Amino acid sequence: MTEGNVFATSQRSHQCGALRAAHAGIAVTLGGWVHRSRNLGGLVFIDLRDRAGLVQVSFNPDWSTARAIADAAAVGVESVVIVQGIVEPRPAEMRNPNLDTGDIEVRATSIRVVGPAMTPAIPVARGKNDQLPAEDLRLRHRYLDLRRPELQANLVLRHRLLQVTRQYLSDLGFLELETPILTKPTPEGARDYLVPSRVHPGEFYALPQSPQIYKQLFMCCGFDRYFQIARCFRDEDLRQDRQPEFTQIDIEASFIGRDDILALSEGMIAAIWREAGHDVSTPFERMSYAEAMERYGCDRPDLRYGLEVHDFTAAFAPLDFGVTASAVAAGGRVRGIRVSGASAWSRKQVDELEALAKSAGAGGLLRVKKTDGKLEGPVAKFLTPDAEAALALDDGDLALLVAAPDRISNPALDRIRQECARRLGIVDEHARRFLWVTDFPMFEQDSATGALSAVHHPFTAANPDDMAAHPDAPEQWRALAYDCVLNGLELGGGSIRTSDPRVQSRMFTLLGIGDVAEQERRFGFLLEGLRAGAPPHGGIAFGFDRISMLLSGGSSLRDVIAFPKTTAARALFENAPSSVPSDDLKELHLRSTVEGA
Ligand code: AMO
Repeated sequence: MTEGNVFATSQRSHQCGALRAAHAGIAVTLGGWVHRSRNLGGLVFIDLRDRAGLVQVSFNPDWSTARAIADAAAVGVESVVIVQGIVEPRPAEMRNPNLDTGDIEVRATSIRVVGPAMTPAIPVARGKNDQLPAEDLRLRHRYLDLRRPELQANLVLRHRLLQVTRQYLSDLGFLELETPILTKPTPEGARDYLVPSRVHPGEFYALPQSPQIYKQLFMCCGFDRYFQIARCFRDEDLRQDRQPEFTQIDIEASFIGRDDILALSEGMIAAIWREAGHDVSTPFERMSYAEAMERYGCDRPDLRYGLEVHDFTAAFAPLDFGVTASAVAAGGRVRGIRVSGASAWSRKQVDELEALAKSAGAGGLLRVKKTDGKLEGPVAKFLTPDAEAALALDDGDLALLVAAPDRISNPALDRIRQECARRLGIVDEHARRFLWVTDFPMFEQDSATGALSAVHHPFTAANPDDMAAHPDAPEQWRALAYDCVLNGLELGGGSIRTSDPRVQSRMFTLLGIGDVAEQERRFGFLLEGLRAGAPPHGGIAFGFDRISMLLSGGSSLRDVIAFPKTTAARALFENAPSSVPSDDLKELHLRSTVEGA
């Protein structure tokens, strides 16, 4: 064993990648994977790899036995070997400044192949310009892909970020408490994964979409400050930034207000970012939901660039132009963005933007551009001096407008704003614009049926001033809810909760669960907890995979989750989901309706 070296065991003395010039002259025993090998006719070089990195191991008749040289020449890449040798400085001209261990090599006296490898299905060692194999292939052979130094570094970073998170919260008196994975099905805006009960025919558990109700019950029990690195499961449509099973930093506290939670979260985020080598300035900017929607058409705006949305309704309403006149007459508005320097974009390029706006639900995208002092576009000849002044275009500008109700123009303007920024190359990849979006609406109203649904979740408290001012118009209430956004990505969200069981029951009624028996059946375990004496409380949850993805510089959650699912919710390596024999289903009191299953 070597002093202070926690990796030393009975089978190895050091990690390969940890050797440095200071180790020169000492005898080492290393265990690792054969990353590459070169056979220069009797001289064999192996790059030996472990979690800490690579080291060059050389076999030479001057210090290795003939047997060791023959074994080293024969061993296949990715095999596991145990090597004994002496650390020696490399001659100056042989040093490799690109390798942490590049000042030394290990002169091997023996080699033992302890884990021979079959020819790897995908290469682990790559040259600088080598493309990665296709992602499906890498996911299928995840046991090899995870050997890649980039993925190893991501998972090591993930570990470190978890440790600082735990430390930060624990230092503030938060208790790490676990909540069940087999839970009661509860609606939380996405679909449950269900688990059939064998011993209770026809009954199901649900995997938790989040520990929401349990963490509130902890508050009722007096645990006052809780956190958990919680695995959550949601059967929803997947995207790059969503996985069916993911990890939250889940937090709840009692006797706490919104600003306490925001400050606490900012401290935690700063500690996490610091661990990854970045300074974060606090407090974060804040913006109400209403302002975010008005200025950016989006409740998680990317503030790294401008291209703000403006309202041109007043100037456009009087124009004798069908598209805008009819939209305004129907209660809509004319809103849009000004894009400097975009008047030179070709018709095809602007048509592509229009296609984007349409895919987001807009009927079309109105364009006005100014070149050589002249306005052009279908609406140009209808523009009054007032409308021209409102547009305020400079030479070279292009205005892109949507005439529609906000619920249609917002998503369309958000999409084209993002695409224009990308095209113009104005997104500062190094900027970190953290933002709190606050004062979300409490409810969303279905335009056809008028039914209300919770924007955050049914346990969020409504703004008491709004409840008092509009007691009979809940659709006008704002929620005591907040989201943490970074560069357009939602990192986390939370709220102050309804701690009065009577108010909670009223919320259920507003959400269409008016029947008291039904409320008790679905949410009785929360209502009982609240009735037993509940402190004021609130909390937040951050998407830990998203945080790890950002801090590792990746663009997909799959780069920071050891065994992720594809966007089709499949695990390609272990091949899940998969069918089960009908006898097993029978035991669970289930029968498949899928033919041939
Ligand atoms: P919410 O549903 O906003 O809040 O989730 C909190 C954060 O979790 C992350 N997240 C996801 N990450 C990866 N894949 C997914 N499918 C996924 N879904 C969500 C996001 C999100 O901001 N119980 C509440 C929190 C609370 O009120 O305290 C909740 O779960 O980063």
